Amino acid sequence: MQDQDYSELRKFVAPEFVFGAGAAMLAGQYAANLSIKKALVVTGPVLETLGFPGMVADSLRREGVACTVFPDVSPNPRHAEVMVGAELFRREGCDALVAVGGGSPMDCAKAIGIVCTNERHVLEFEGVDRVERPGPPLICIPTTAGTAADISQFAIINDTDRKVKIAIVSKTMVPDLALIDPLLTLTMGEELTAHTGLDALTHAAEAFASNASSAITDLNAVEAMRLIRLHLLRAVREPDNMEARTGMMLASTYAGLAFSNAILGAVHAMAHSLGGLLDMPHGLCNAILLDHVIEYNYDAEPMKYARLGSLLGADIRAEDDPALVKAKTLEAVRTLKREAGVTVGLCELGMTDEDLPVLARNALADACMLTNPKQPTADDVIEIFKQSC
Ligand SMILES: [Fe+2]
Repeated sequence: MQDQDYSELRKFVAPEFVFGAGAAMLAGQYAANLSIKKALVVTGPVLETLGFPGMVADSLRREGVACTVFPDVSPNPRHAEVMVGAELFRREGCDALVAVGGGSPMDCAKAIGIVCTNERHVLEFEGVDRVERPGPPLICIPTTAGTAADISQFAIINDTDRKVKIAIVSKTMVPDLALIDPLLTLTMGEELTAHTGLDALTHAAEAFASNASSAITDLNAVEAMRLIRLHLLRAVREPDNMEARTGMMLASTYAGLAFSNAILGAVHAMAHSLGGLLDMPHGLCNAILLDHVIEYNYDAEPMKYARLGSLLGADIRAEDDPALVKAKTLEAVRTLKREAGVTVGLCELGMTDEDLPVLARNALADACMLTNPKQPTADDVIEIFKQSC
């Protein structure tokens, strides 16, 4: 396979991060080093019952850092929750944010930060580079292996009035520190492990095929896909397997480094549209859409998709004709999905024919669509939604 031309200008941003078992317990030490006096710990109700925010709060207090817990973030975090969190941050006199959870608490914490420093409504930051002042120090502690919001310059917030998810994309959204601790993913159930893992695969696949990809994002995307093939199914079937959990956490981190810088594509644009209109779960939407979008996109980036197929275990040979390579690649993605337990379609989750025009319009307006290797029409997007039914 010929290398692509990597001569175009590309930048790459990443937070400071600590990776490995026990990293979460460094929260207090790092907060003290950052001279944080009082942190708002942003998290979700399920996580509270698992005890992770309490563990992090203890680590902060041991180092003399006070904290208040904001435990009210829902999946697909809503704009009103951001504003409530920002009000609490001000009222409690906090000077930093610590997010504990999956993508939702982390995205919410990023948004709370910029609302506080810029004194504006969260919905005013929609789009690329619309944030003037960075938020206060932000430490992210992920508890799932997939979203990589702890790495990325994205925050996705649900505008519940318009029923669309907005993307806030800015270098100022990159956390100051990520404490990436695979031990925190051991409590994830089978489904959550599968859905977040396939979200990570989608990050890697979309960043790899993105028209903003670079040598450095490709390197990260390829390694993420290799690790996902090795570890995803074992993490789903053997939840206590630390090697698989660590492999998936590392894959998520690599995929995050790739997509934060190369951005994403049509899968995420369409998943955001489904999340906004129908409040569907992010990882599962991506998992359902991924192979259908690859099928549509394939001809725009055949070499890259063939590489993806090989990395996922497709037996692609030099003598295979292009149609066979495409078929083998799609089969590799579909097999992984099926074995991870994703067999439902979007219609079973509640998508109807009447939703399609609005879903397509919102997907086409999503920032992630700009870097898809091929620009679809509304009819193309509707067709992909139908195939994913
Ligand atoms: Fe995602």
